[in-house]
Amino acid sequence: MKYRTMGKLGVQASAFGLGCMRFNGAASGDSTIDEQKAIALIRQAIDGGVNYLDTAYVYLDKTSEIVVGKALRDGYRDKVTIATKMPLGAVKDRASMEALLAEELKKLQTDHIDFYLMHGLNRKEWESFKAIGAPAFFDDMKREGKIRFKCFSFHGPYEDFEYILNDYDWDMVQIQYNFMDIDHQAGEKGLKLAGEKGIPVVIMEGLLGGRLSRAPENVQALYDAFPVRRSAVEWAFRWLCNYPEVSVVLSGCNEPEQIAENLRIFDSAEAGCMDAQELQLIENVRQAYLDRTRIGCTGCKYCMPCPNEVNIAGIFSAWNNISLYCTDPAQDWGLRRIKEQAHGADQCVGCGACEAACPQNLPIIEKLAQAWSELG
Ligand SMILES: NC(=O)c1ccc[n+]([C@@H]2O[C@H](COP(=O)([O-])OP(=O)(O)OC[C@H]3O[C@@H](n4cnc5c(N)ncnc54)[C@H](OP(=O)(O)O)[C@@H]3O)[C@@H](O)[C@H]2O)c1
Repeated sequence: MKYRTMGKLGVQASAFGLGCMRFNGAASGDSTIDEQKAIALIRQAIDGGVNYLDTAYVYLDKTSEIVVGKALRDGYRDKVTIATKMPLGAVKDRASMEALLAEELKKLQTDHIDFYLMHGLNRKEWESFKAIGAPAFFDDMKREGKIRFKCFSFHGPYEDFEYILNDYDWDMVQIQYNFMDIDHQAGEKGLKLAGEKGIPVVIMEGLLGGRLSRAPENVQALYDAFPVRRSAVEWAFRWLCNYPEVSVVLSGCNEPEQIAENLRIFDSAEAGCMDAQELQLIENVRQAYLDRTRIGCTGCKYCMPCPNEVNIAGIFSAWNNISLYCTDPAQDWGLRRIKEQAHGADQCVGCGACEAACPQNLPIIEKLAQAWSELG
Protein backbone atom coordinates (compact mmCIF):
# COMPACT_ATOMS: atom_id res chain seq x y z
CA MET A 1 0.00 0.00 0.00
CA LYS A 2 1.26 3.46 -0.87
CA TYR A 3 0.72 6.10 1.82
CA ARG A 4 0.39 9.79 1.01
CA THR A 5 0.87 12.85 3.16
CA MET A 6 -2.42 14.71 3.55
CA GLY A 7 -1.40 18.26 2.60
CA LYS A 8 -1.03 20.69 5.50
CA LEU A 9 -2.30 18.09 8.01
CA GLY A 10 0.77 15.90 7.58
CA VAL A 11 -1.32 12.78 8.30
CA GLN A 12 -0.13 9.65 6.47
CA ALA A 13 -3.15 8.14 4.74
CA SER A 14 -3.43 5.03 2.62
CA ALA A 15 -3.97 6.00 -1.03
CA PHE A 16 -6.90 3.55 -1.06
CA GLY A 17 -9.65 4.62 1.33
CA LEU A 18 -12.53 2.23 1.85
CA GLY A 19 -15.93 3.72 1.04
CA CYS A 20 -18.61 2.24 3.28
CA MET A 21 -21.65 3.21 1.22
CA ARG A 22 -21.99 0.27 -1.12
CA PHE A 23 -21.87 -2.95 0.86
CA ASN A 24 -24.26 -5.54 -0.58
CA GLY A 25 -24.79 -3.92 -3.93
CA ALA A 26 -26.24 -0.70 -2.58
CA ALA A 27 -25.28 0.80 -5.95
CA SER A 28 -28.34 -0.94 -7.35
CA GLY A 29 -30.64 0.35 -4.64
CA ASP A 30 -30.38 -2.56 -2.17
CA SER A 31 -29.42 -1.11 1.18
CA THR A 32 -29.74 -4.23 3.32
CA ILE A 33 -26.33 -5.04 4.75
CA ASP A 34 -25.01 -8.55 5.25
CA GLU A 35 -23.31 -7.48 8.46
CA GLN A 36 -20.83 -10.33 8.78
CA LYS A 37 -19.73 -9.94 5.17
CA ALA A 38 -19.34 -6.16 5.52
CA ILE A 39 -17.27 -6.56 8.70
CA ALA A 40 -15.04 -9.10 6.96
CA LEU A 41 -14.57 -6.71 3.99
CA ILE A 42 -13.63 -3.82 6.26
CA ARG A 43 -11.13 -5.94 8.20
CA GLN A 44 -9.70 -7.40 4.98
CA ALA A 45 -9.01 -3.86 3.76
CA ILE A 46 -7.42 -2.81 7.07
CA ASP A 47 -5.30 -5.97 7.24
CA GLY A 48 -4.13 -5.10 3.71
CA GLY A 49 -2.96 -1.63 4.79
CA VAL A 50 -6.03 0.63 4.40
CA ASN A 51 -6.08 3.19 7.22
CA TYR A 52 -8.85 5.50 5.97
CA LEU A 53 -12.57 4.60 6.19
CA ASP A 54 -15.34 6.79 4.82
CA THR A 55 -18.91 6.52 6.05
CA ALA A 56 -21.82 8.87 6.77
CA TYR A 57 -24.84 9.19 9.06
CA VAL A 58 -27.25 8.45 6.21
CA TYR A 59 -25.47 5.63 4.36
CA LEU A 60 -27.31 2.34 3.98
CA ASP A 61 -30.41 3.53 5.78
CA LYS A 62 -28.28 4.85 8.66
CA THR A 63 -26.70 1.43 9.32
CA SER A 64 -23.26 1.95 7.75
CA GLU A 65 -21.82 3.71 10.84
CA ILE A 66 -23.11 0.89 13.05
CA VAL A 67 -21.40 -1.78 10.97
CA VAL A 68 -18.18 0.24 10.81
CA GLY A 69 -18.31 0.55 14.62
CA LYS A 70 -18.65 -3.22 14.96
CA ALA A 71 -15.86 -3.89 12.45
CA LEU A 72 -13.52 -1.64 14.43
CA ARG A 73 -13.79 -3.64 17.65
CA ASP A 74 -10.94 -5.99 18.63
CA GLY A 75 -8.23 -3.34 18.21
CA TYR A 76 -9.09 -2.30 14.64
CA ARG A 77 -10.11 1.24 15.69
CA ASP A 78 -6.50 2.11 16.53
CA LYS A 79 -5.35 1.16 13.04
CA VAL A 80 -7.56 3.60 11.11
CA THR A 81 -8.83 7.11 10.74
CA ILE A 82 -12.59 7.49 10.38
CA ALA A 83 -14.30 10.02 8.14
CA THR A 84 -18.02 10.46 8.68
CA LYS A 85 -20.54 13.14 7.83
CA MET A 86 -23.07 15.40 9.45
CA PRO A 87 -26.51 14.94 7.80
CA LEU A 88 -27.23 18.56 6.90
CA GLY A 89 -30.97 18.04 6.43
CA ALA A 90 -31.32 17.13 10.12
CA VAL A 91 -29.48 20.21 11.43
CA LYS A 92 -31.58 23.02 12.85
CA ASP A 93 -29.36 24.63 15.46
CA ARG A 94 -26.29 24.11 17.64
CA ALA A 95 -28.11 21.62 19.87
CA SER A 96 -29.03 19.39 16.92
CA MET A 97 -25.41 19.43 15.68
CA GLU A 98 -24.25 18.29 19.11
CA ALA A 99 -26.93 15.59 19.30
CA LEU A 100 -26.09 14.23 15.84
CA LEU A 101 -22.37 14.08 16.59
CA ALA A 102 -23.07 12.31 19.89
CA GLU A 103 -25.24 9.76 18.07
CA GLU A 104 -22.55 9.17 15.43
CA LEU A 105 -19.84 8.66 18.08
CA LYS A 106 -22.08 6.11 19.78
CA LYS A 107 -22.86 4.24 16.56
CA LEU A 108 -19.18 4.18 15.64
CA GLN A 109 -18.24 3.06 19.19
CA THR A 110 -15.50 5.63 19.40
CA ASP A 111 -14.67 8.74 21.43
CA HIS A 112 -13.55 10.78 18.42
CA ILE A 113 -14.06 11.14 14.70
CA ASP A 114 -10.96 11.98 12.71
CA PHE A 115 -12.52 13.70 9.70
CA TYR A 116 -15.94 15.24 10.30
CA LEU A 117 -17.56 16.41 7.08
CA MET A 118 -20.53 18.59 6.30
CA HIS A 119 -22.22 16.18 3.89
CA GLY A 120 -22.77 17.40 0.33
CA LEU A 121 -22.47 21.06 1.34
CA ASN A 122 -23.74 23.72 -1.04
CA ARG A 123 -23.25 27.49 -0.90
CA LYS A 124 -26.72 28.32 0.36
CA GLU A 125 -26.45 25.77 3.15
CA TRP A 126 -22.99 27.01 4.07
CA GLU A 127 -24.37 30.52 4.58
CA SER A 128 -27.18 29.26 6.79
CA PHE A 129 -24.87 26.95 8.79
CA LYS A 130 -22.53 29.86 9.41
CA ALA A 131 -25.50 31.82 10.72
CA ILE A 132 -26.36 29.09 13.24
CA GLY A 133 -22.77 28.80 14.44
CA ALA A 134 -21.27 25.81 12.56
CA PRO A 135 -17.71 27.27 12.63
CA ALA A 136 -17.82 27.73 16.43
CA PHE A 137 -19.29 24.23 16.77
CA PHE A 138 -16.37 22.76 14.81
CA ASP A 139 -13.81 24.69 16.88
CA ASP A 140 -15.42 23.62 20.17
CA MET A 141 -15.61 19.97 19.12
CA LYS A 142 -11.94 20.06 18.06
CA ARG A 143 -11.00 21.56 21.42
CA GLU A 144 -13.00 18.87 23.24
CA GLY A 145 -11.26 16.17 21.15
CA LYS A 146 -14.50 14.84 19.66
CA ILE A 147 -13.36 15.61 16.11
CA ARG A 148 -9.84 16.08 14.74
CA PHE A 149 -10.48 17.77 11.40
CA LYS A 150 -13.29 19.95 10.01
CA CYS A 151 -14.15 19.12 6.44
CA PHE A 152 -16.86 19.11 3.78
CA SER A 153 -17.91 16.98 0.84
CA PHE A 154 -19.13 18.63 -2.31
CA HIS A 155 -21.17 17.93 -5.45
CA GLY A 156 -22.09 21.43 -6.72
CA PRO A 157 -20.64 23.73 -9.40
CA TYR A 158 -17.01 24.93 -9.34
CA GLU A 159 -17.90 28.56 -8.49
CA ASP A 160 -19.60 27.46 -5.27
CA PHE A 161 -16.71 25.15 -4.43
CA GLU A 162 -14.25 28.02 -4.79
CA TYR A 163 -16.39 30.24 -2.61
CA ILE A 164 -16.83 27.70 0.21
CA LEU A 165 -13.19 26.62 0.11
CA ASN A 166 -11.93 30.21 0.39
CA ASP A 167 -14.47 31.21 3.03
CA TYR A 168 -13.22 29.10 5.95
CA ASP A 169 -10.12 27.39 7.29
CA TRP A 170 -11.02 23.85 6.15
CA ASP A 171 -8.80 20.89 7.04
CA MET A 172 -9.87 18.62 4.17
CA VAL A 173 -12.30 18.43 1.29
CA GLN A 174 -13.93 15.46 -0.46
CA ILE A 175 -14.88 15.84 -4.13
CA GLN A 176 -16.24 13.66 -6.92
CA TYR A 177 -13.48 13.20 -9.50
CA ASN A 178 -12.57 10.75 -12.26
CA PHE A 179 -11.38 11.08 -15.86
CA MET A 180 -14.91 11.82 -17.08
CA ASP A 181 -15.43 14.61 -14.52
CA ILE A 182 -12.47 16.88 -15.37
CA ASP A 183 -14.82 19.81 -16.00
CA HIS A 184 -17.74 18.67 -13.85
CA GLN A 185 -18.52 19.82 -10.26
CA ALA A 186 -15.28 20.93 -8.51
CA GLY A 187 -13.36 19.31 -11.38
CA GLU A 188 -9.63 19.57 -12.04
CA LYS A 189 -9.75 23.31 -11.28
CA GLY A 190 -11.13 22.59 -7.80
CA LEU A 191 -8.57 19.87 -7.15
CA LYS A 192 -5.71 22.21 -8.11
CA LEU A 193 -7.13 25.08 -6.05
CA ALA A 194 -7.28 22.92 -2.93
CA GLY A 195 -3.76 21.67 -3.69
CA GLU A 196 -2.42 25.25 -3.92
CA LYS A 197 -3.93 25.99 -0.50
CA GLY A 198 -2.40 22.82 1.00
CA ILE A 199 -5.87 21.43 1.71
CA PRO A 200 -5.87 17.64 1.31
CA VAL A 201 -8.34 16.24 -1.20
CA VAL A 202 -10.16 12.93 -0.83
CA ILE A 203 -11.70 11.58 -4.02
CA MET A 204 -15.11 9.90 -4.23
CA GLU A 205 -16.74 8.28 -7.27
CA GLY A 206 -13.34 7.54 -8.79
CA LEU A 207 -15.04 4.83 -10.87
CA LEU A 208 -18.23 6.88 -11.28
CA GLY A 209 -20.00 4.56 -8.89
CA GLY A 210 -18.60 1.51 -10.72
CA ARG A 211 -19.58 2.63 -14.22
CA LEU A 212 -15.96 3.06 -15.33
CA SER A 213 -15.16 -0.54 -14.33
CA ARG A 214 -17.25 -1.93 -17.22
CA ALA A 215 -15.74 -0.55 -20.42
CA PRO A 216 -18.03 -0.52 -23.47
CA GLU A 217 -16.65 -2.13 -26.65
CA ASN A 218 -15.14 0.98 -28.22
CA VAL A 219 -13.35 1.82 -24.94
CA GLN A 220 -12.20 -1.74 -24.30
CA ALA A 221 -10.68 -1.78 -27.81
CA LEU A 222 -8.42 1.12 -26.79
CA TYR A 223 -7.35 -0.57 -23.56
CA ASP A 224 -6.68 -3.82 -25.49
CA ALA A 225 -4.54 -2.08 -28.11
CA PHE A 226 -2.26 -0.43 -25.53
CA PRO A 227 1.13 -2.14 -25.05
CA VAL A 228 0.66 -2.39 -21.25
CA ARG A 229 -2.36 -4.49 -20.18
CA ARG A 230 -4.34 -3.18 -17.22
CA SER A 231 -7.98 -3.47 -16.19
CA ALA A 232 -10.33 -0.50 -16.64
CA VAL A 233 -10.38 -0.17 -12.83
CA GLU A 234 -6.59 -0.01 -12.62
CA TRP A 235 -6.37 2.64 -15.34
CA ALA A 236 -9.00 4.78 -13.59
CA PHE A 237 -7.29 4.56 -10.19
CA ARG A 238 -3.76 5.10 -11.58
CA TRP A 239 -4.98 8.20 -13.41
CA LEU A 240 -6.24 9.62 -10.09
CA CYS A 241 -3.12 8.67 -8.13
CA ASN A 242 -1.00 10.42 -10.74
CA TYR A 243 -2.18 13.78 -9.28
CA PRO A 244 0.04 14.91 -6.36
CA GLU A 245 -2.93 16.91 -5.03
CA VAL A 246 -4.92 13.70 -4.38
CA SER A 247 -4.49 12.34 -0.86
CA VAL A 248 -6.94 9.44 -0.75
CA VAL A 249 -9.01 7.70 -3.43
CA LEU A 250 -12.15 6.18 -1.97
CA SER A 251 -13.50 2.99 -3.42
CA GLY A 252 -16.70 1.30 -2.35
CA CYS A 253 -16.31 -2.48 -2.61
CA ASN A 254 -18.89 -5.27 -2.33
CA GLU A 255 -16.71 -8.34 -2.74
CA PRO A 256 -13.43 -9.59 -1.25
CA GLU A 257 -12.05 -9.90 -4.80
CA GLN A 258 -12.59 -6.17 -5.35
CA ILE A 259 -10.75 -5.33 -2.13
CA ALA A 260 -7.89 -7.65 -3.11
CA GLU A 261 -7.68 -6.13 -6.60
CA ASN A 262 -7.68 -2.59 -5.22
CA LEU A 263 -5.03 -3.41 -2.63
CA ARG A 264 -2.85 -4.65 -5.48
CA ILE A 265 -3.50 -1.56 -7.61
CA PHE A 266 -2.74 0.89 -4.79
CA ASP A 267 0.50 -0.93 -4.04
CA SER A 268 2.14 0.72 -7.03
CA ALA A 269 -0.06 3.66 -8.06
CA GLU A 270 1.56 6.92 -6.98
CA ALA A 271 1.95 10.56 -8.01
CA GLY A 272 3.68 10.75 -11.39
CA CYS A 273 2.99 7.07 -12.21
CA MET A 274 1.49 7.85 -15.65
CA ASP A 275 3.77 8.72 -18.59
CA ALA A 276 2.72 10.87 -21.57
CA GLN A 277 1.58 7.86 -23.63
CA GLU A 278 -0.57 6.58 -20.78
CA LEU A 279 -2.13 9.98 -20.22
CA GLN A 280 -2.90 10.13 -23.95
CA LEU A 281 -4.57 6.72 -23.71
CA ILE A 282 -6.92 8.01 -21.00
CA GLU A 283 -7.64 11.13 -23.05
CA ASN A 284 -8.57 8.83 -25.98
CA VAL A 285 -10.68 6.69 -23.65
CA ARG A 286 -12.50 9.77 -22.42
CA GLN A 287 -13.19 10.80 -26.03
CA ALA A 288 -14.39 7.28 -26.85
CA TYR A 289 -16.92 7.53 -24.02
CA LEU A 290 -18.03 10.97 -25.22
CA ASP A 291 -18.45 9.60 -28.76
CA ARG A 292 -21.30 7.53 -27.34
CA THR A 293 -23.28 10.70 -26.53
CA ARG A 294 -26.80 10.47 -27.99
CA ILE A 295 -27.65 14.16 -27.99
CA GLY A 296 -25.59 17.32 -27.57
CA CYS A 297 -27.81 18.71 -24.81
CA THR A 298 -25.71 20.83 -22.45
CA GLY A 299 -28.33 20.75 -19.67
CA CYS A 300 -28.74 24.56 -19.75
CA LYS A 301 -32.52 24.08 -19.22
CA TYR A 302 -33.48 27.09 -21.36
CA CYS A 303 -36.18 24.74 -22.72
CA MET A 304 -37.73 24.41 -19.26
CA PRO A 305 -40.15 24.65 -17.60
CA CYS A 306 -42.12 22.78 -20.24
CA PRO A 307 -45.82 23.78 -20.21
CA ASN A 308 -46.63 20.07 -19.83
CA GLU A 309 -43.89 19.53 -17.22
CA VAL A 310 -41.75 17.19 -19.35
CA ASN A 311 -38.30 17.00 -17.72
CA ILE A 312 -36.51 17.54 -21.03
CA ALA A 313 -32.99 18.02 -19.67
CA GLY A 314 -33.38 15.09 -17.26
CA ILE A 315 -34.50 12.72 -20.03
CA PHE A 316 -31.63 13.72 -22.32
CA SER A 317 -29.14 13.43 -19.48
CA ALA A 318 -30.37 9.89 -18.66
CA TRP A 319 -30.31 8.96 -22.37
CA ASN A 320 -26.68 10.10 -22.67
CA ASN A 321 -25.54 8.49 -19.42
CA ILE A 322 -27.15 5.15 -20.21
CA SER A 323 -25.52 5.14 -23.64
CA LEU A 324 -22.09 6.29 -22.39
CA TYR A 325 -21.80 3.74 -19.61
CA CYS A 326 -24.02 0.92 -20.97
CA THR A 327 -26.16 0.96 -17.85
CA ASP A 328 -29.60 -0.56 -17.41
CA PRO A 329 -32.37 2.09 -17.80
CA ALA A 330 -34.35 0.31 -15.05
CA GLN A 331 -31.49 1.07 -12.62
CA ASP A 332 -31.18 4.74 -13.53
CA TRP A 333 -32.30 6.68 -10.47
CA GLY A 334 -32.99 9.94 -12.36
CA LEU A 335 -35.05 8.20 -15.00
CA ARG A 336 -37.04 6.29 -12.38
CA ARG A 337 -37.89 9.57 -10.68
CA ILE A 338 -38.97 11.17 -13.95
CA LYS A 339 -41.32 8.24 -14.57
CA GLU A 340 -42.68 8.22 -11.02
CA GLN A 341 -43.41 11.94 -11.18
CA ALA A 342 -45.05 11.66 -14.62
CA HIS A 343 -42.54 14.09 -16.17
CA GLY A 344 -41.77 11.73 -19.07
CA ALA A 345 -41.75 12.41 -22.81
CA ASP A 346 -45.17 10.73 -23.05
CA GLN A 347 -46.54 14.03 -21.66
CA CYS A 348 -45.19 15.98 -24.69
CA VAL A 349 -47.92 17.53 -26.89
CA GLY A 350 -45.46 18.86 -29.50
CA CYS A 351 -46.17 22.56 -28.85
CA GLY A 352 -42.56 23.45 -29.77
CA ALA A 353 -41.97 26.03 -27.00
CA CYS A 354 -38.79 24.13 -26.07
CA GLU A 355 -37.35 24.14 -29.59
CA ALA A 356 -37.84 27.90 -29.86
CA ALA A 357 -35.83 28.37 -26.65
CA CYS A 358 -32.99 25.85 -27.27
CA PRO A 359 -29.65 27.64 -27.86
CA GLN A 360 -28.30 24.46 -29.53
CA ASN A 361 -31.23 24.33 -31.98
CA LEU A 362 -31.89 20.72 -31.10
CA PRO A 363 -34.89 18.98 -32.69
CA ILE A 364 -36.22 18.37 -29.16
CA ILE A 365 -39.65 16.96 -30.02
CA GLU A 366 -38.27 14.28 -32.35
CA LYS A 367 -35.36 13.39 -30.04
CA LEU A 368 -37.57 13.20 -26.94
CA ALA A 369 -39.79 10.65 -28.68
CA GLN A 370 -36.74 8.63 -29.79
CA ALA A 371 -35.17 8.75 -26.30
CA TRP A 372 -38.41 7.72 -24.64
CA SER A 373 -38.94 4.75 -26.91
CA GLU A 374 -35.30 3.58 -26.43
CA LEU A 375 -35.47 4.05 -22.65
CA GLY A 376 -38.54 1.86 -22.44
N1 LIG B 1 -20.03 12.60 0.41
C1 LIG B 1 -20.77 12.27 -0.61
O1 LIG B 1 -21.64 13.03 -0.99
C2 LIG B 1 -20.50 10.95 -1.28
C3 LIG B 1 -21.11 10.61 -2.49
C4 LIG B 1 -20.75 9.46 -3.12
C5 LIG B 1 -19.80 8.64 -2.52
N2 LIG B 1 -19.24 8.95 -1.33
C6 LIG B 1 -18.23 8.08 -0.67
O2 LIG B 1 -17.23 7.77 -1.56
C7 LIG B 1 -17.09 6.35 -1.60
C8 LIG B 1 -16.64 5.97 -2.96
O3 LIG B 1 -17.62 6.31 -3.91
P1 LIG B 1 -18.21 5.19 -4.75
O4 LIG B 1 -18.63 4.05 -3.89
O5 LIG B 1 -19.22 5.82 -5.61
O6 LIG B 1 -16.89 4.74 -5.53
P2 LIG B 1 -16.58 4.18 -6.90
O7 LIG B 1 -15.23 3.64 -6.72
O8 LIG B 1 -16.79 5.17 -7.99
O9 LIG B 1 -17.63 3.01 -7.17
C9 LIG B 1 -17.77 1.92 -6.32
C10 LIG B 1 -18.14 0.72 -7.16
O10 LIG B 1 -17.03 0.42 -7.99
C11 LIG B 1 -16.99 -0.97 -8.24
N3 LIG B 1 -15.65 -1.47 -7.91
C12 LIG B 1 -14.83 -1.10 -6.89
N4 LIG B 1 -13.66 -1.79 -6.97
C13 LIG B 1 -13.76 -2.60 -8.05
C14 LIG B 1 -12.90 -3.55 -8.65
N5 LIG B 1 -11.69 -3.78 -8.17
N6 LIG B 1 -13.34 -4.19 -9.76
C15 LIG B 1 -14.56 -3.95 -10.28
N7 LIG B 1 -15.42 -3.06 -9.75
C16 LIG B 1 -15.03 -2.40 -8.65
C17 LIG B 1 -18.10 -1.60 -7.43
O11 LIG B 1 -19.17 -1.69 -8.36
P3 LIG B 1 -20.25 -2.85 -8.39
O12 LIG B 1 -21.18 -2.49 -7.28
O13 LIG B 1 -20.88 -2.70 -9.71
O14 LIG B 1 -19.53 -4.14 -8.18
C18 LIG B 1 -18.40 -0.55 -6.38
O15 LIG B 1 -19.72 -0.58 -5.92
C19 LIG B 1 -18.45 5.81 -1.18
O16 LIG B 1 -18.41 4.48 -0.76
C20 LIG B 1 -18.78 6.78 -0.10
O17 LIG B 1 -18.14 6.39 1.07
C21 LIG B 1 -19.56 10.10 -0.73
